Amino acid sequence: MESTSLELSQFAEDVIGGLSSTPKHLSSRYFYDDEGSRLFMEIMKLPEYYLTRAEMKIFTEQKDAICEAFSEGAGAVDLIELGAGDGTKTAVLIEHLLSKGVDFTYHPIDISQEANDALSSRFHEKFPALRIEPHTGDYFQVLGSLCNNNGRRKVVMFLGSNIGNFLRESAVAFFRDLRKVLSEDDRLFIGFDMQKDPRTIVAAYDDAQGVTSAFNLNLLRRINRELGGDFDLDKFSHYAQYRPMECAARSFLISREKQTVTIKAINRSFDFYQWEPIFMEISQKYTHAMIDELSRDGGFEIAREFFNEKDFYIDSLWRPI
Ligand SMILES: C[S@@+](CC[C@H](N)C(=O)[O-])C[C@H]1O[C@@H](n2cnc3c(N)ncnc32)[C@H](O)[C@@H]1O
Repeated sequence: MESTSLELSQFAEDVIGGLSSTPKHLSSRYFYDDEGSRLFMEIMKLPEYYLTRAEMKIFTEQKDAICEAFSEGAGAVDLIELGAGDGTKTAVLIEHLLSKGVDFTYHPIDISQEANDALSSRFHEKFPALRIEPHTGDYFQVLGSLCNNNGRRKVVMFLGSNIGNFLRESAVAFFRDLRKVLSEDDRLFIGFDMQKDPRTIVAAYDDAQGVTSAFNLNLLRRINRELGGDFDLDKFSHYAQYRPMECAARSFLISREKQTVTIKAINRSFDFYQWEPIFMEISQKYTHAMIDELSRDGGFEIAREFFNEKDFYIDSLWRPI
C-alpha cells in the first residue's frame, strides 16, 4: 500500500516528532505497510505467539454463546471489525452466525489495502452468502461514516489484544470516542491478553526465528522507502522486555553504534549514540481489575466475559452506559 500524500505528511511529522524526542520513539501505527501486514501474519503462526491461538480457542469452543450474545434481542447486526488483518479467527464467528441464520453484514476495517483485499477474496470464496463491506483506512475515519442510526445493532470487534498497543490514557480516549458513535443497544467486543508468566510474555515478542525483529526493523525500511531515509538495518537490533509491575511488554530497536541517519524527504538528520534505544511498541497485559476500570472510564460496562480455562486471555463484551 502506498501512502496518500495526507498520510505521508502525517507519517513524516510523526517520524520527526518521534526521532527528535528523548527517548526516541516511533509509532507502531506505521508497522502495517504491505510487508508489515505480511510479517504480522507470520508472527501469528509462531510457536511463541500464543495470543492468536488463545483467542482462536475461545472462539472455537464458545462460538455459540458469543454469537448469541452478539445477536440476542437485535433484528439485524452490523459486525464491524477494527484492524481485521487476515480475519482467521473472525471466520469462526462468521461461519457460526451464517449457520444460525443471523441477519448481519460484516464490515472489516483495515489500514492495509493488501490485508483487506486478501481477506475479501478469501471470505467471498469461503462464504458465498456473506454480505461483506470492507473499508480501507484508519479506524476512526471509517468508523464515523458507519455510525448512522440505521436501526441495526453495531457489534464493534477489536481483537488480538490490539488495545494493548495503546497507553492507558489513549485507550480510555479511544473507548470514549467509540462510545460517542455507539448507541445503547450496540456492543463492543475486545480481546485482552492477561497477566501471566513473564517468560511466556517476553518470548512472544522475541521469537527464536527473528520474525518479530524483522517486523520492527521493517518500519525503518518503510522510512527509507517512503521518506528517503538511509537507515542501515544491520546497525539496529530488536530488543523486547516485560515489566511485571506495570504488566507491560515493550519493544525497542537499539542503535548498535554511534551513527547519524538522514531522512531526505524531511531534510533532517538524527544522531544516535551507541546502544541508544528507539521505543517501538507497548503490549499491555491486563488483570480483571484493569479491564473493569477501563470499561467504566471509557463509558461502558462489562456485559459478559469469555475466557479460556487458565484465564490466560479474555474476550470481553461491553455495553454502553
Ligand atoms: C495486530 S494486527 C491484528 C489483526 C487481527 N485483528 C487479529 O486479531 O489477529 C493489527 C491490524 O490492524 C491494522 N491496523 C493497525 N493500525 C490501524 C489503524 N489505525 N486503522 C486501521 N487498521 C489498523 C493492521 O493493518 C493489522 O491488520
